[in-house]
Amino acid sequence: MARFQAPKGVSEYFPDRSTYFDYVRSTIIESARVAGYQLMELPAFEDTELFSRGVGESTDVVRKEMYTFEDRGGRSLTLRPEGTAGVMRAVIEHNLDRGQLPVKVYYSGAFFRAERPQAGRYRQFYQVGIEAIGVADPRIDVEVIAVADRAFKELGLSKYQLEITSLGDVLTRQNYLKELRAYIATISLDDETAARAELNPLRLFDDKRAEVKSLMSDAPVLMDFLTEESAKDFAKVQELLRLLGIDFVINPRMVRGLDYYTGTAFEFVHSELGAQTGIGGGGRYDGLMAQLGGQELSGIGFGLGVDRILLACEAEGIALPEGYGLDLFIVPLGTGDAALTIAEELRGRGIHVDLAFGDKALKGAMKSADRSGATYSMVLGADELESGVVALKEMKTGESSSVTLSALAHELIERISNFGEHS
Ligand code: HAM
Repeated sequence: MARFQAPKGVSEYFPDRSTYFDYVRSTIIESARVAGYQLMELPAFEDTELFSRGVGESTDVVRKEMYTFEDRGGRSLTLRPEGTAGVMRAVIEHNLDRGQLPVKVYYSGAFFRAERPQAGRYRQFYQVGIEAIGVADPRIDVEVIAVADRAFKELGLSKYQLEITSLGDVLTRQNYLKELRAYIATISLDDETAARAELNPLRLFDDKRAEVKSLMSDAPVLMDFLTEESAKDFAKVQELLRLLGIDFVINPRMVRGLDYYTGTAFEFVHSELGAQTGIGGGGRYDGLMAQLGGQELSGIGFGLGVDRILLACEAEGIALPEGYGLDLFIVPLGTGDAALTIAEELRGRGIHVDLAFGDKALKGAMKSADRSGATYSMVLGADELESGVVALKEMKTGESSSVTLSALAHELIERISNFGEHS
């Protein structure tokens, strides 16, 4: 029979790599949690119009990358291509903005964009995102950036760079867009590109074609048009980033792929990933809530690409920290019931334990212990049960030491240096 394959271009994770994926994702989530962000669990599909209005008609995401379908009731739904519009929808729908501000939430899950698949670019991919809604304060901009930066540092990444820009306030963009449109009127564009520029002239900076790139190289730059207020906020953001020791460069030509951005915008790029360098990005979106039918409230957030961050960790040769996987693998020799009982006791104390099942001979069971990636292994035969003493073997060095069964849990907890972090 023909075997099934996953749909083209999706990312999926299974053992052993899924443990690394889990570690990367949990590290990012933890960085958000320590800063007071709480979970938001949202549907994977929403009303199509939420995205066309929220993300913007001029964006590639809305124009050609949405997975849109009609449900059985004839409604047009779309698999979420990003998380911010859905968070805004939920905040407005459930009146979260009527309580304590800012609303600080994080989310984690699969997102869908019908892009051309390549290394690091998938049609289903994973993001962890955060949003802080309801307070316009450069300190929140910096807090959001710091959550991402801490996660990267915690993971041990070093070959990444934070790029920041300011897209200014409404007045900034009015003044700037007038100039930009005047400039665009002087260059010749094909009909489709001209139509796109009509919707949002900023999109032309995003165009990958060399001829458009060169036409746009002399275009006016938004940052030269910042109002006094916007310039002040942007200066404050830079001052605070320096204060917190977060390195950055200013990229005045950054164009985010989604239309809702205002003010501070940023991207994290990694140098070892080939074409898809963006490991995360975000920014302020002060008009979005009103645009989606809510009150005039500001917001800022980011989306980090978990798939790409995992690739970045692998490219930098970062190993899974010891203690994140299994702590102990038990090899029973005719003592299956006792081994399971001991495993369950240890598991109840937060120690990560696996054991050999079935009638595996010693050799096969030892192989399983090797493959398990456990930090320690031990053989449990009739002798060990009778004497109450086992040889605890450290897998990396091959060194064994005698430990009594009654002291085993205590001994493992002592030895596992980062015990507690993963339990
Ligand atoms: P975004 O820049 O479109 O922003 O996506 C954020 C991150 O998701 C990217 O930097 C990248 O790492 C990852 N990503 C995007 N598309 C793909 C793909 N096809 N395959 C693999 N990874 C991908 C947003 O989505 C905004 N909602 C972020 C945000 C939140 N802004 C404010 N709040």
